Amino acid sequence: MNNLQININILEYKDITEFKNIYQDLINSARNTVFFAYAPYSKFKVGAAVLLENGEIITGTNQENSAYPSGMCAERVAIFYANSKFPNIPVKALAVCAYHNEKYLKIPTPPCGSCRQVILETEVRFKKPIDIILYGTDKILVFKSAKDMLPLSFSEDFLK
Ligand code: THU
Repeated sequence: MNNLQININILEYKDITEFKNIYQDLINSARNTVFFAYAPYSKFKVGAAVLLENGEIITGTNQENSAYPSGMCAERVAIFYANSKFPNIPVKALAVCAYHNEKYLKIPTPPCGSCRQVILETEVRFKKPIDIILYGTDKILVFKSAKDMLPLSFSEDFLK
């Protein structure tokens, strides 16, 4: 029996000012868009902002439904819309932010498993890793690829 270990790389920042301007804009887009969330059931509002290689920023929010599984997370709303509008432009970065009980969350909001799988697919599709920026008021975490969030992931390789 082997005890295998996997190392993942996470960068931790204290403040938005530590980021380059375009990433500050991206984080602020995620922060500003939470108020467009449709989250009457959980009251947990999530904002996601996608930065494309052409400099375009696309935002998305969670969209809930009384039939719960019919809703959609902010990350997938933003990515699917970006990829629908600009199917040939690679995604460079994604910022995520959550707002609950009248304030932004202190701790960064981790994307759910399905969103991680979709971010990974987007990396595979455009053959480029995506910077994933998880915003919290106490700290901001950055993953340099969805592979760091989804070890042992399923991808197109298995379908060949
Ligand atoms: N949610 C997101 O939009 N993104 C995440 O990363 C975590 C969860 C949404 C789904 C649901 O509308 C609400 O937050 C509570 O789970």
